[in-house]
Amino acid sequence: MTMKPRIALIIGSTRPTRFADKPAQWMLKQAQAREDMDVEVVDLRDHPLPFFAEMASNLHVPSKDSEAIRWQETIAGFDGFIFVVAEYNHSVTGALKNALDQAYREWNRKPFTAIAYGGAGGACALEHLRGIGVELQMVSTRPPSISVAATSWQCSRWVVTSQSRRSRRVFCPAPRRRWTI
Ligand SMILES: Cc1cc2nc3c(=O)[nH]c(=O)nc-3n(C[C@H](O)[C@H](O)[C@H](O)COP(=O)(O)O)c2cc1C
Repeated sequence: MTMKPRIALIIGSTRPTRFADKPAQWMLKQAQAREDMDVEVVDLRDHPLPFFAEMASNLHVPSKDSEAIRWQETIAGFDGFIFVVAEYNHSVTGALKNALDQAYREWNRKPFTAIAYGGAGGACALEHLRGIGVELQMVSTRPPSISVAATSWQCSRWVVTSQSRRSRRVFCPAPRRRWTI
């Protein structure tokens, strides 16, 4: 019997009022509809990692921090990853970058994709993530980026829709506000 690959859907924003759950739940539904993989949510909120303070990457020196070791064990159990990526100042969140740094061997030779979102669509964060993935010896697929059209503190009623097979967008049903000086 062929084993299905075990895929982690990693939620990369941890802030209390995060928007991340909307794209994460949408992505989870799409992934669970497939029969060729098993997908599980891995929420960085459940992994309270300290800022990286090890002697070196665990490529060179085994990590000492118990949360870092637990994180590495979690990542080691998966065959591939779907990152849910918020764009913060044109990159991934600090929490996600730290989590990526806290493992090395466990990421190696595994494929990843991502769903990215942000006020301007998350494309810059995605490209940073792909560069990080190369350094971690991962293989990137061509991931989608979605635009949330405005920031989440402006509208708490975001929904994710599938507008066509090729384009998937998040939109806010409430009227969009304008920036004023
Ligand atoms: C510190 C910070 C920086 C941000 N920088 C960008 C940015 O560079 N580009 C962008 O498109 N959106 C940016 N945003 C908007 C976020 O992508 C948006 O608020 C998103 O909902 C954040 O994800 P989260 O709610 O899941 O944490 C920024 C938000 C924050 C809080």
